[in-house]
Amino acid sequence: MKKSSITEIAKRTYNSKDYGNRSYSEWKWLRKPHTKSIYNQTKFSIESTLDRKGLNCLEIGIGDGIWTELLLKREFNVDGIDISTRMLDMAKERLGNRINYILADFNEVILKNKYDLIYSIRCIEYIDDKKKAINKIYNLLNHSGKVIIVTKNPSFIAIKWQDRDMHKGQIYSKDLKILMHEAGFKDIKVIPAVFGKGIHFAFIRKFNETILKKLIKTKKDIFVLNPLIESYLIIGEKK
Ligand SMILES: C[S@@+](CC[C@H](N)C(=O)[O-])C[C@H]1O[C@@H](n2cnc3c(N)ncnc32)[C@H](O)[C@@H]1O
Repeated sequence: MKKSSITEIAKRTYNSKDYGNRSYSEWKWLRKPHTKSIYNQTKFSIESTLDRKGLNCLEIGIGDGIWTELLLKREFNVDGIDISTRMLDMAKERLGNRINYILADFNEVILKNKYDLIYSIRCIEYIDDKKKAINKIYNLLNHSGKVIIVTKNPSFIAIKWQDRDMHKGQIYSKDLKILMHEAGFKDIKVIPAVFGKGIHFAFIRKFNETILKKLIKTKKDIFVLNPLIESYLIIGEKK
């Protein structure tokens, strides 16, 4: 298979997957109590880092725009990029003319704007050349601009049971940290975005949500818990 295969698989998948008359985010995030719990954890994690308002933001891999809502609530001006026509159509249905849409592969597109925030939720794992993407993000940021990336954790125990092709682009937080450091980012921090697996038992979901909040609040990197972290958030600043 040629080098760009993960992005191609993602493009094919997101253009054709059957969400059963639902939007992507209804299917992915809001369908059941356990998917909603994963949504709530991710939202808590993102909101604990979104400390700015009313600035220019680029969102990479916006999907149907569910996470863009958090930016619009904070009055950001958003350019949203996605490689899938179908995902962008769903985003247009959700967000209308509140953002600018760009249909493109992030690593290939030439962008003229500069941004105060670059934000990407569960997309970097589908980008083949992560070093190129991180350097490009750095160059597209204004001075003091921030990047916030949420991505799946390849150390998560349940990952081993999942479909390999779609998941082979996952990157360990320590490797993403190195790429960000090499690009020039400062104040790089990693926090959990989802603790545990989406579970049908309400008390386990509650337990997972509580642990996530505690880990974020205490700002402790508890290494032994890493296999229980389904996805992580990494943040860095251009100084
Ligand atoms: C797992 S979905 C996440 C969507 C949304 N961010 C969310 O969390 O609900 C990944 C998204 O990234 C997009 N994507 C994958 N590779 C991309 C690339 N190279 N450039 C732009 N978008 C890409 C896909 O089309 C898809 O919409």
